[in-house]
Parts: sequence; structure tokens; C-alpha cells
Amino acid sequence: MHTIILDSETDFNGWRQAARRLALNEVKPQEVTWTVRNAEPELFAATEADHLPDVPEGTFNVPAKFVELAKAAILHRNSERFARLYRLLWRLRNHHDLLNVATDPDVAEINAMARAVHRDEHKMYAFVRFREVGRVNTHFVAWFEPEHHIVELAAPFFAKRFADMPWSILTPDVCAHWDGHAISITPGVAKSEAPGEDRLEETWRSYYAAIFNPARLKVKAMQTEMPQKYWRNLPEASLIKPLIASAERTAVAMIANEATEPHKPQKRLDEPMARKQAQDARAHDTIAALRDEAADCRACPLWQDATQTVFGEGPQGATLMLVGEQPGDKEDLAGHPFVGPAGQMLDRALEDAGIDRASVYITNAVKHFKFVQRGKVRLHQKPNTAEIRACRQWYARELAAIKPELVVALGATAAHSVLGKITPINKNRGHLIDHDGTKVLVTVHPSYLLRLPDEKAKALEYQRFIDDLKIAADQLRNAVRAA
Ligand code: URA
Ligand code: SF4
Repeated sequence: MHTIILDSETDFNGWRQAARRLALNEVKPQEVTWTVRNAEPELFAATEADHLPDVPEGTFNVPAKFVELAKAAILHRNSERFARLYRLLWRLRNHHDLLNVATDPDVAEINAMARAVHRDEHKMYAFVRFREVGRVNTHFVAWFEPEHHIVELAAPFFAKRFADMPWSILTPDVCAHWDGHAISITPGVAKSEAPGEDRLEETWRSYYAAIFNPARLKVKAMQTEMPQKYWRNLPEASLIKPLIASAERTAVAMIANEATEPHKPQKRLDEPMARKQAQDARAHDTIAALRDEAADCRACPLWQDATQTVFGEGPQGATLMLVGEQPGDKEDLAGHPFVGPAGQMLDRALEDAGIDRASVYITNAVKHFKFVQRGKVRLHQKPNTAEIRACRQWYARELAAIKPELVVALGATAAHSVLGKITPINKNRGHLIDHDGTKVLVTVHPSYLLRLPDEKAKALEYQRFIDDLKIAADQLRNAVRAA
């Protein structure tokens, strides 16, 4: 048995050197135990791979993709990761294309670890909040509890972003510091060592309120962009929670008042930091990260019977966002929105209106299929208000990530989610609605057209649907011209 002691939880070079030496000496994965020095300080004296001879003539190449994957996966908190990576490396020697076999359990596991690490990294960019300490030698300090060992990976981002402000990010694992010139890493600390309530917190709160006035939607978007588990470390949490608890209108009025109070100082030393951080919090949701996160959503009961979360699809830079009701039977099985009969109707209508489906971001108000089983058939059921509300967080985050010129709500459920209230289609279709700074058009759902029994009515309603979509197409053309 060989025992390898790595220098730290993030010692990729140590792992790489040891793994290489082990593999060249034909040491099988099951003959190696991996550990980290500070986790087992007394038990082991040296890295036993050091005793293995170098095999000068032995070489093997691994795909560059493996190195990238391993660099990320090694930061996962799973204590088996070093062994799993070595097993994959071992198998890669004789199976060079193994990484392309996504269903292979080793490949799938390492891919999942790497993805989780990157997700955590992006959350850190979005959710770290600095507080100012010291009046003379100002220093910014943040407390963060990452899921994985990502502090060293993420530190350069903060160094670049806040290059002219000395900062420290304290975590239970390690701490990162920036003195304006270099990053240094020190051991982790207890939360009690992080500064609590102070002056920056106050500034941040009023600043946070100010930047979201008067664009009211952004307040809502912001709430949903921050998963609850991060709130406890955010100074603005004490602002968000009452917002959600109280009636929306009152809360927004409260923010508006606070923001416009003339005696509130708006220009502060720490304002650039707060501004940058607010931008970061909004910018770091990519659709891919959202889709990953929504795959495990349990915010309403609909996930229980459905096959999978069917998330939105389309280019992140789309100017048009289409919102349907919920996935149907075919979408639930395929994992993609609008691929069944309603999707075919939608495809035809988009084409007739001169809109290229590939350029559109297409999603649903509710991301899981709701149905009742009748024999072999799964009968579609309308989502209720609680389900629409629970799922709205995903729509709001998609909206914030895509920032389309126009949102088209297909049918009453979509209109309910997009406009935040029950909205009759016939009374509201055919013209643009401004909803909290987003342009919205409501129209019927394509499956309504499928259900019409009479051919004449069908043709007429189809034409009205096309007319609505053409309003959208015109709007997008005008937006391009104005840009
Ligand atoms: N109907 C919808 O609203 N969405 C789909 O994805 C499919 C059918
Ligand atoms: Fe979550 Fe929406 Fe699925 Fe409900 S329907 S579990 S809110 S993704």
C-alpha cells in the first residue's frame, strides 16, 4: 500500500507529480491511499511516492482536457476526489477517448465535481460582501463559507476587481488577502473573527436601496438571484427579508423613500466597492449555471412526479424571450421546452412571423410537468398560483441573465408569471406593456389554437397569433435600429 500525503486540500501539483510517478510504476489505484498533510499531521512522515523510482523512459500523455478537469475537481470537498482522479487517470492511459464517454461512472463523477466547483466559484463572485474596517488604514473584510476549496481559485478575480482596495476574504478553510500588490493565503479562521455590524454595512444597505430605485423590478430580480443560504452573510439581507415579508408595494415605497431622502449621503469612500459588487451579483448567473441549479429545485411539489426540470433554452444574448406555461408530456421526457405538438405549432407560427427560433430564448413559467395519470396517459393539468409563484424565481433569474428587449408571454399562466398578476389575454394582447422596465407582449398559447374545434376559427385565431408575433418582430427590428 502506498500513502500519498499532499501539502494541502488544493495541492494539484503534488497530486499530479505523485499520480504520475505511481502510474509509471504501475501502482494500481486500489493500492494507494491519499491524504492531506494538515488533516493527518502525526500519522505519516513522508510522501511515499517519493520512494518510488523515477522511470525515465516511461512517459504517458493525458488529454489537456483531463488536466483542466482535474484542476477543478480536486477543489471539491469530497475526500475521495484524489483517489477518484487517480483511478480516472489510470484508466485514461489505455482508453484515450474515455473523457468523451459521458456515461462512464468515473467520468460522470469527475465532471459533476468540476461543475459543482465552478458553480461555487461563481457564487463566491456574486455573494462575497466586503465590510470596511479601520478608519485610518482602511481595509475591506468579507466572511464567506464556500462549499468547496475555491478560495485560491477565486482570489485573482477579487484582486483584479478591487485592485486599489486592500481586502481580506476570511473563510473557515483558508483566508485570501490582497495588499494592492499580491495575494497571500493564510489558514482559515472562525466566523467570530470576521467583523460584524459596522459602518460599511449601513452604507451598503442605503446604497443597495438607492441603486434599485426607481426600476422596481430589479428589486424583485435581486431577491430571487440570491439563494437564501447566502443571505446570512449579506448586509442587505436585513433589507431583503422585510421586503419579502411585507406587501410588495409598501416595501418598494419604503425603498424609494429611503433612496430619495435628501440628507442621506450618497457619495462615500466605499461606494465604488458597493457598486461593483451589486453589478457582480447580477452578472454571475449564466443560463448554464441556472439550469444546473434548477435541476435540483424542490420549491414546490411538482418535481416529485415529473421526469426532470425542463429549463429554458436559447442564446444568452437573445433579444426575444418566449415564455410558455409548463412542459408537456413530450417535453418532460425529452428535457427540452416546446418540442411536442404545441412546439410544432409554435415553430410554424414563428416562421410565418419572420422570427428565427434559434435566436429566441424559450422557457416556461413552470419548469416541471404537472399531470394526472389516466391509465397509460398523463393528462396535462394547469399549474396553480402557488406553483406559478414558487417557480417564478427561475423566470426572474432567466430574465436577469438574458436581459431581452422583449418578453412574449404565451397564454394566461405565462402572463400571470411574467406580469406578476392574473392577466386576461384578450383584453391585454396586441400591444406592448411596460412591466417594471421590461417590455412585454401577451398573446395566446399555441395549444389553444390546437384545441379549437372549428377550422374557420382556427385559421382566424392563427392569423391573430401571427399578428401578435409580428408586433414582436417589428419591435425587435426597431430595437436593433435604435442601438
Ligand atoms: N406547452 C408549454 O407551455 N410549454 C412547453 O414547453 C410545451 C407545451
Ligand atoms: Fe421548482 Fe418550478 Fe419545479 Fe416547482 S415547478 S419544483 S418551483 S422548478
